[in-house]
Amino acid sequence: MSEKKVILSGIQPSGSPTLGSYLGALKNWALMAEEYECFYSIVDMHAITARQDPAELRKTPFLQLALLIACGIDPEKSTIFIQSHVPAHAQLSWVLNCYTMYGELSRMTQFKDKSSKNADNINAGLFTYPALQAADILLYQADYVPVGADQKQHIELTRDIAVRFNGIYGDVFKLPEPYIPKVGARIMDLQNPTNKMSKSEIADGGCVLIMDTPEDIKRSFKRAVTDSETSVRYDIENKPGVSNLISIYSVCTGKTFDDIEREFDGKGYGDLKANVGEAVVELLRPIRERATTLLADKAYLETVFKNGAEKASYTANKTLRKVYKKIGFVV
Ligand code: TRP
Repeated sequence: MSEKKVILSGIQPSGSPTLGSYLGALKNWALMAEEYECFYSIVDMHAITARQDPAELRKTPFLQLALLIACGIDPEKSTIFIQSHVPAHAQLSWVLNCYTMYGELSRMTQFKDKSSKNADNINAGLFTYPALQAADILLYQADYVPVGADQKQHIELTRDIAVRFNGIYGDVFKLPEPYIPKVGARIMDLQNPTNKMSKSEIADGGCVLIMDTPEDIKRSFKRAVTDSETSVRYDIENKPGVSNLISIYSVCTGKTFDDIEREFDGKGYGDLKANVGEAVVELLRPIRERATTLLADKAYLETVFKNGAEKASYTANKTLRKVYKKIGFVV
């Protein structure tokens, strides 16, 4: 048995991640495998809380997997699997539903958000989504869950459910904590630089995807919103657009903000945008190429999913069995 602390994260199967999630999260995940035992679940069961096109849903996990590997996550070191391949998620989630309160679920901001946006499909799965997410996490006795700020409430609820369950039956679940990476940039939308870069804002052109072509990437940066001054200076309060470009350039090149301000001293925003665009193109090029090669080898990706599900099931079933015994199911 490994002594490493355990990390689990769930990834929505929704096509290419953004530049923001690469720089803010995925890039760190590749390094985390050295220090932690990592599980990454592609959460197709969560995905169907919104209506999905079956043909798309059948395809996106492969794209997701190819991209994870291309971003440096080694499937020999980390366990990558599809949620629906490990039935324990559905099984534990039912149990946890019975230890999660209606009031708690009603207070979830993601539920309120999503139900106001999809008033015609407020299904029970959307409501109990957090109990499934708690199952994802608790099955692996995860110590840490790397998530964005929007998921913190779900992690807190997971802890509350675990505390409640442990309070009745003894120490069954490890209490997880959100994992805030030591490094990791917060990348903002290029058109609305006070908002986080997000696929839901894709229509405005301010979001760059890992799989975007070099032409698209350059165009997105060329159009990035700046301000009415001319000086390239990091000032997040007054110059959010330029500051965002500076931080993107900094993570791509390893240069400090000071270096960058000096580099563009006396130059305009046009130069800055062109240079950042170029740097991002070069950063993403090998990832896109690797992902494209991997995608052509579906048999390999299927093997990774099969092995991942086997490894995940082993750990998950141990926890599930313990839970079943504790609550009095005949096992
Ligand atoms: N709810 C998460 C999101 O919207 C995805 C997710 C599902 C998840 N299960 C998880 C994240 C478990 C962390 C751990 O992004």
